[in-house]
Amino acid sequence: TIPLIIDTDPGVDDALALAVAVASPEVDLLGVTTVFGNVGLDKTTRNALRLMTLLGRDDIPVAVGAERPLVHPQPHVSRAHGADGLSGFADTLPEPTAEPDPRDAVTLMKDLLEASPEPVTIVPIGPLTNIALLLAAHPRLKERIARLVVMGGGIRGGNITAAAEFNLWCDPEAARRVLVEEQVPTTLVTMDLTKRCAVSSEWLQEVGKSSEIGAKLVGLTPDYLAAYQRFLGWDGMAVHDAVAVAEAVKPGILATQRFPVEVECAFGPGRGGLLVDERLETPKDIGLDIAVDTDLDALRGFLFERLSAFGVR
Ligand code: BDR
Ligand code: CA
Repeated sequence: TIPLIIDTDPGVDDALALAVAVASPEVDLLGVTTVFGNVGLDKTTRNALRLMTLLGRDDIPVAVGAERPLVHPQPHVSRAHGADGLSGFADTLPEPTAEPDPRDAVTLMKDLLEASPEPVTIVPIGPLTNIALLLAAHPRLKERIARLVVMGGGIRGGNITAAAEFNLWCDPEAARRVLVEEQVPTTLVTMDLTKRCAVSSEWLQEVGKSSEIGAKLVGLTPDYLAAYQRFLGWDGMAVHDAVAVAEAVKPGILATQRFPVEVECAFGPGRGGLLVDERLETPKDIGLDIAVDTDLDALRGFLFERLSAFGVR
């Protein structure tokens, strides 16, 4: 099994991503760390604890991470996930049956990386602040990381500004440290691909019929779905973070191409943007493995199977 840590800011799609990881026997979810992002840290942490309770895994440690970006304040939170981070439905989840881990997120990640006999895959699906802090504080632990599977960035533009995708925009300095400077093996799952992997409202309804847990998870989606309807005219939604978890669970389910990247940290309309260096002359051995394609039906089938697995346990 693949040892895994998820760093998250739940978040409607984060909720589905956590569920996919819990439902996947290929991985051993060692810990969950929380970060500010879609909403404030108190809410993302509470949502993570409630979700792990819902999923029957309150034994997995949930540790609290960064409350704000490394250098500059986050201009505002997301509008897509509702005031509570879960479309206004966070209160439909059970009260947490576990407390947050006494360790902070960086310390929990450090302890898990040190204790794991195998290098660990880390899946950051929120702002990259905790990961930047981990790499800054414990550079020698890089070799204990099998790879990062990061959900973030947009090649053809963004979703929170014209240039920037939300997770990179929240903390561009942290993103630059992690994606550009550290050279940790990284698969980057950008919103270009996650949007192509969008699921329909009918798909969600079927997941909802599969089990009580499936119904609770789908019960978190209405406002988020409505935002896709309103802004893009879709009858469905992107499940960005769950696509990254799919790649962590089934390495290679996403096809990748290696490119060096940059993250725009200057103030201006490009702040938080991802720059993919596609010049012919750039070295081919450095950079990130950017997820560029997948078998869309197979990917959706995989997510459906895992999100529907809670009924058959
Ligand atoms: C990313 O931003 C957040 O709103 C989602 O949870 C996802 O991690 C998509 O841009
Ligand atoms: Ca997220």
